[in-house]
Amino acid sequence: MAQDPKYDLPTYTPVARGLHWWIALLVFIQLPLGFYMAYRGNEMPGVNEKGEPVKGVWDALTDTLYSSHKVIGLTILLFVILRLLYRLTRGAPRSDPTVPPALTGISHFVHWALYALLIAVPVIGYKAISYGNYLDVFGVHLPAISEKNENLAKEVFEWHETGAILIIVFASIHIAAAVYHRFIRRDRVVERMIPKRVV
Ligand code: HEM
Ligand code: HEM
Repeated sequence: MAQDPKYDLPTYTPVARGLHWWIALLVFIQLPLGFYMAYRGNEMPGVNEKGEPVKGVWDALTDTLYSSHKVIGLTILLFVILRLLYRLTRGAPRSDPTVPPALTGISHFVHWALYALLIAVPVIGYKAISYGNYLDVFGVHLPAISEKNENLAKEVFEWHETGAILIIVFASIHIAAAVYHRFIRRDRVVERMIPKRVV
């Protein structure tokens, strides 16, 4: 490994790393789950009670997928709030000094954009289910935060989808950057999140 042993770099604390990897794992599950369940509920060819062809299948599986998506989405929101509180009170380890300042600046921008999106997308999702009154989660009725309004529900679901696509864009830049640091630049940035004994 071509890492320079001459420079020391503190890693993120186990709490920060634990929250990072839980959030990353849940986001990796949540995105395909969201796209598949929306396809299943709105587009997939199905039949109604009279046997006529309709768009969208609303069976026990679709229901379970929607409930799971809401639970996972709210869990992501909770973990991101905890992570942000921890980050704002405890800070982050100093940046790798070998990385040019412009690159460090871009990486900070991407991190904060991800934090903002990981708060905004689940909040917007909740607002949308509140407008649509789709508040059931495994038989439990979540509290409404707005009056019912089908048109607004549709519009806010569009924002939810756009936000989710932006998460994919920023997370892809973020993961490409991790690959660049680890395998091309061969610095110690990735070790901050995955300590050396594991990599
Ligand atoms: C970071 C968290 C979240 C991510 C990344 C995410 C992602 C997605 C994605 C990719 C879709 C499919 C978009 C489409 O094809 O129309 C979707 C749909 C949906 N999301 Fe989320 N979501 C999150 C949180 C939430 C939360 C917290 C709720 C509600 C409590 C929620 C409720 C919904 C619903 C009901 C749909 C289906 C919309 C439809 O049927 O048209 N999501 N989400
Ligand atoms: C294979 C997947 C991933 C890898 C290898 C990875 C790696 C890293 C590394 C090395 C850092 C520290 C960077 C530095 O200190 O300059 C970091 C920070 C961060 N990552 Fe990831 N990450 C991954 C997935 C994700 C995902 C899916 C998200 C969210 C959607 C995410 C959000 C963040 C955020 C917000 C930070 C900033 C932490 C802070 O300083 O507060 N990561 N990640």
